[in-house]
Amino acid sequence: MVTAAVGSGWLALTSPNTVDDITEVWSLPVSRATLDVMRDAGLSLPRNDPRQYDDLAGEWWRPDGAFAMLHWLARARAALVPPAARPGALLVDLGCGAGLLAPHLVGKGYRHVGVDLTRSALIQAADHGVTVVNGDATAVPLADGCADVVAAGELLEHVPDWRAAVAQACRLLRPGGLLVLDTLNDTALSRLVAVRIAERLPTVPRGIHDPRLFVDDRELVAECARHGVDLRVRGVRPAVPGLLRWLLRRARGIGTPPDQVPRIVPTASAAVLYQGHGVRDG
Ligand SMILES: C[S@@+](CC[C@H](N)C(=O)[O-])C[C@H]1O[C@@H](n2cnc3c(N)ncnc32)[C@H](O)[C@@H]1O
Repeated sequence: MVTAAVGSGWLALTSPNTVDDITEVWSLPVSRATLDVMRDAGLSLPRNDPRQYDDLAGEWWRPDGAFAMLHWLARARAALVPPAARPGALLVDLGCGAGLLAPHLVGKGYRHVGVDLTRSALIQAADHGVTVVNGDATAVPLADGCADVVAAGELLEHVPDWRAAVAQACRLLRPGGLLVLDTLNDTALSRLVAVRIAERLPTVPRGIHDPRLFVDDRELVAECARHGVDLRVRGVRPAVPGLLRWLLRRARGIGTPPDQVPRIVPTASAAVLYQGHGVRDG
C-alpha cells in the first residue's frame, strides 16, 4: 500500500510507465478538503454530503439495495467500453464507489483503477479487483494521458466543480482514448423525476443528490470539446416493465435474478438521465 497526498510529488511516480506499480494508494487530506470546499460554497447541506456513502456502505453490493440502480447503470456504461486495444490498457474509473463497474469489465482486458473520496467504498472496490486511489476527481493524482478509458458514472452530479472533474477526465485520457459517463441533467424534469419522485422509491437513497449540482448536457458537451473530447450524449432510463417487475418483487421481498434486473435503454430525451461517450483527439 502506498500512502501519499495530492501535491506530495508522487504524481511523477505514476507516469504511464510506472502506473503498473501501483497497488493501492490512499491519500489523506483530500476528502476533508473537498468537504471544506463544499462548506465554503454553502453546499454543505445534508444533501450530497459524501459521508452519506459511509452510512450506506452496506448497500453497495446488495442487488435490491439502495444502490440497485447503480448496478443497472454500470452494466449499460460498460457496454460502451470496447475490449482493450492493447495489452496493459488502463481504465480509470472516477468516483468508482465500491467498484460496481468491475464485474462488467471482466474479459475486456483492462486494468481497472478506481478513484474515489470514500474509503469505505474503496475497501469494497479493492475486494472486487479494483486498484484503488483515495482521491478527489477534481485533482486526480495520476499522470496525463495514462488512461485508455476514463469512466465517470454518476459522479459529475455530485461534484461542486464538475468542470474541474471533466478537465481531469480529459487530461487523463491518452489521444484516441475513450470517455464514458452518465449523469443527471440540469432540468426541472430531472429535479422532479430524480429527486422528488425517485427518492421516494427504493432505487435512489434520500438526500443523495443536490439538484443544484445537476449538469446541463450542452454545457458538458462544450466543456469536453474545450478539452479535446467530442462527447455524444443520449438520454437513458430504466426499461419500464423491468422496473415495475423489480419494484413489485422487491415490495414482496422476492429477489430479482441478475438476468431479470431492469435494463437501461436509450430514450428520446436527455432531459433527465443521460450517457455520454467520446474520443479524445490527437
Ligand atoms: C452515486 S456514486 C457512483 C459510484 C460509481 N461510479 C457507480 O456508478 O457505482 C458517487 C460516487 O462519487 C464519489 N464522489 C463524490 N464526489 C467525489 C469527488 N469529488 N471525487 C471523487 N469521488 C467523489 C462518492 O464517494 C461516490 O462513491
